[in-house]
Amino acid sequence: MQPNYDFYRIQKLPPYVFAVINEMKAKARAAQQDVVDLGMGNPDGQTPRVIVSKLVEAARNARNHRYSQSKGIPRLRDEIVQRYARNYGVALDPEKEAIVTIGAKDALAHLLFAVIGPGDVVVSPNPCYPIHQYGVIMAEGEACTVPMPNPAAFLNSLEDLYRKSAKPPRMILISFPHNPTTQCVDLDFFKEIIRMASQHGTMVLHDFAYADIGFDGYKPPSILEVEGAKEVAVEIFSMSKSYNMAGWRVGFCLGNPKMIAALARIKSYLDYGVFQPIQIASIIALRECEEDTHKIRAMYQKRRDVLIQGLCRAGWPVEPPRGSMFVWAPLPERFRHLGSLEFSKLMMEKALVAVSPGVGFGPLGEGFVRFALIENPHRIRQATTAIKRMLKD
Ligand SMILES: Cc1ncc(COP(=O)(O)O)c(C=O)c1O
Repeated sequence: MQPNYDFYRIQKLPPYVFAVINEMKAKARAAQQDVVDLGMGNPDGQTPRVIVSKLVEAARNARNHRYSQSKGIPRLRDEIVQRYARNYGVALDPEKEAIVTIGAKDALAHLLFAVIGPGDVVVSPNPCYPIHQYGVIMAEGEACTVPMPNPAAFLNSLEDLYRKSAKPPRMILISFPHNPTTQCVDLDFFKEIIRMASQHGTMVLHDFAYADIGFDGYKPPSILEVEGAKEVAVEIFSMSKSYNMAGWRVGFCLGNPKMIAALARIKSYLDYGVFQPIQIASIIALRECEEDTHKIRAMYQKRRDVLIQGLCRAGWPVEPPRGSMFVWAPLPERFRHLGSLEFSKLMMEKALVAVSPGVGFGPLGEGFVRFALIENPHRIRQATTAIKRMLKD
């Protein structure tokens, strides 16, 4: 007799929409075709040299080969706390208000697992980064997705929700600069979120993965800058984009001590912490690599400009984003009937450009595609020239 392979949690996770495009990309590349990959938000730049050197040095020391601490070594927690003081004027206790995580994804998934239970409503904008919705579903909460044509409309819908719904949300889960829509907010938006959350006893989780990727002088605010934010909110900071350390898997959860303690408890059962040499190298990143972060930001800005100009020349005008590493583009009028998945397939077939179909980020992402700025300006120009040809045909 066969075991029952209808796994309870897996059934709730639909197959990854992006897999279709990834397969097409792999096939085209196997056939020696030159695909410009603007699909996944996977940074192409190298980690700054001093960070890599520190990793190598620390990896040679046998003391660093043992299990580390699941909540992160104290010196790394001190360092992130100092960065928050320096960059945002936010004071945090490194013992109770900061924890190291295995990237932002670990922080998101396990924090939800720790603090959300059956029936708890978690509100987040739609479209969204998939774990924002499926992390809630895996924790058996109710993912309540609210449209976000713009941040002000999201706030209005949230007000409405509090007014009309019998059960107030247990958590608001947001992320700005936003993936995939690239929308950005100012501190006043966060003040409103914290005001509503404090009034109704709702937790707030802010995923700050693009903390350092703001353009034209825009500096994305931290939600913890809002007075009293720590009473209800935590923020997740990731090393992946700010320091080109995506593969290293390091991030942090900062703020409300009760939520941090819950995450620490769950993680104490699940992991032994990030490999210690990676934590030691991350201290150097936070302490010495601010200049590298500026260069990374400038690089994305340049790529954004090249892509927006190229799309405009192709007859596809798109609003330039203020932040994030993406461009979120409504389908050109003539192709709207196809939907985002078919249009993305067409782009692969006809222009050899890989993008992410908006529908992969939720139903309200339909009608858009997302370009990730992960190829150099020359390659981006190559992509927009091919797109121009495709749109003319
Ligand atoms: C909004 C958002 N949060 C989190 C992540 C993942 O970050 P990390 O590499 O730290 O797990 C991403 C990656 O693309 C993201 O877009």
